[in-house]
Amino acid sequence: MNLPDIHCKGELMADLETIADEICTPSEMLHKWFDDKYSTSKHIPMLDSIPIGLKAKTIVEVGFGRSTIALCYVAKQLDAKFICCDRHDYSAYLGLLEDEDLQKCTRFIQGDAKSLFKTDHMDNGVDFMFLDYFSSRERSADSIYKAIYRFLPYMKQNGIIAVHDTIEKKYFVKDAFKRLRKDKGLEVLSLPYNYGLGLIRKLGESKYGKIEDEWKKKSDS
Ligand SMILES: C[S@@+](CC[C@H](N)C(=O)[O-])C[C@H]1O[C@@H](n2cnc3c(N)ncnc32)[C@H](O)[C@@H]1O
Repeated sequence: MNLPDIHCKGELMADLETIADEICTPSEMLHKWFDDKYSTSKHIPMLDSIPIGLKAKTIVEVGFGRSTIALCYVAKQLDAKFICCDRHDYSAYLGLLEDEDLQKCTRFIQGDAKSLFKTDHMDNGVDFMFLDYFSSRERSADSIYKAIYRFLPYMKQNGIIAVHDTIEKKYFVKDAFKRLRKDKGLEVLSLPYNYGLGLIRKLGESKYGKIEDEWKKKSDS
């Protein structure tokens, strides 16, 4: 099969086939990627645990990769809707997983991130979003800041936008984050490893409602 190029393509194809052949579980593969050295390796557990913590119903990602595999399995587990957008058509990689339930909850959109605004996929609000497409010297801090602001109205209150490369010196994501930190309607922090994972929590009200904490300890429930 002729799949579009991607970072360590052969390894990714072999890994996805390993899951499809049930040689290892998706969860074991995510652990393997965590232990390996890809640009988002050390963030894989967050991409799994944050949507679970939020009991996410809608998950959006821009920038296909191993992160997408983590997110589509978490969407399947949560019976959530997962939309992945990338300029390149990477959808055939998801096909390698040969999992009908996973295909049902996942939509791949080929196009610029802006094409998401022309779809109805975010019409019920978004719980968790992973933006991993700003890693270019061509992307100015201003354009990154504006792109994140365009997504914010779709987030539920307490919804989380995760952004990669927020401490990487050669890109301007860190500068966009400096501006975001000034917004009192947001809680913003950057995990200081593996190029940085920025986490933005929407504090203000949202027309899509509020994500409540549903994880109480035994004695409180
Ligand atoms: C760093 S890679 C994503 C890595 C992936 N999240 C992972 O964890 O392996 C960035 C991706 O963003 C895509 N991309 C870049 N600019 C984009 C844009 N404006 N709209 C949609 N996709 C874009 C690229 O095609 C590329 O596949």
